[in-house]
Amino acid sequence: MEALPDVLAQVADCLATAKELIRTADAGESLARARNSALARLGAFMELIKTAPREDKPRIGAALNAAKGELLACAAEREAALSAVAQAAGVDITLPGSALEQGSLHPLTNIERRVVDALRSLGFSVADGPEVEDEFHNFIALNIPEDHPARDPSDNFYLKGVPWLLRSQTSTVQIRTMQSGPPPFRVCAPGRVFRPDEVDATHHWMFHQVEGLAVDEGLSMADLKGTLLLFFRTLFGNDVELRLRASFFPFTEPSAEVDVFFPGRGWVEMGGCGMVDPAVFEAVGVDSARWSGFAFGLGLERLAMRHFGVPDIRHFTDNDVRFLRQVH
Ligand code: DAH
Repeated sequence: MEALPDVLAQVADCLATAKELIRTADAGESLARARNSALARLGAFMELIKTAPREDKPRIGAALNAAKGELLACAAEREAALSAVAQAAGVDITLPGSALEQGSLHPLTNIERRVVDALRSLGFSVADGPEVEDEFHNFIALNIPEDHPARDPSDNFYLKGVPWLLRSQTSTVQIRTMQSGPPPFRVCAPGRVFRPDEVDATHHWMFHQVEGLAVDEGLSMADLKGTLLLFFRTLFGNDVELRLRASFFPFTEPSAEVDVFFPGRGWVEMGGCGMVDPAVFEAVGVDSARWSGFAFGLGLERLAMRHFGVPDIRHFTDNDVRFLRQVH
């Protein structure tokens, strides 16, 4: 090993360099790095003691211990100073804030809210039903017989081992509403429905409908037509026109397809409607001699596609933020 004065000078040198590094360290990390590398170097000198002449060992050992103590004290001092600065920075109200990215409503949520607002303004409240349904609410009470093609297993998501399916229409909520108490009723029910359709620009196996049901004394087709016209004009503006085309649904009699005319674009089919069939009233114990009602079911995607000018239904479920940023 080198001569004693040289060793002591090196220890002093090592300490001085480390203290300088520590005093100028500007964050917890660089401070820890400076302290640890200095400790490692002092540790290496400790190893050297073994090879030093016996009479020199005590002085070298004492010098190393003193250096280590000084180093740790210096590091602790700097650490305290840095944390005081950080604390002060924590209440520095002149620093710029970090901006949060702002999201937006999904276009279907947006259209659902507009639809519900429009129907609320016409006196409808919001009703709800489960997405997993039984055949009574999805078919039987709606006067859809066992052999009707709408009940075909290939046209529905029946669950395995239980007598349930994913509802294929929001008309289920008509039944649940009428089971909930005596008329009158005026409800709307927006929600998801499921059918194993091939996916293309206008079809998806999951989509949204909004159901409407009004039951009262003396309701007629004129009430239905007036309600739908007001609804579409609230949603799309006063220059749209309404057309009801004779059709068939098992749960309404008479039944009609609902078309809306958009100036410059022509007629667009939006759903179905009709007067509640007496067989439906009977299934839920409503006296059809006293009460009459109308119902309608509209496709929310269709309304949204028309409202926002979206050409492909798949955009709604692609989760592409470039689409979601444009359409809301
Ligand atoms: N549930 C029908 C469907 O999904 C739509 C419908 C038609 C709803 C006529 C109604 C209605 O309430 O009266 O195709």
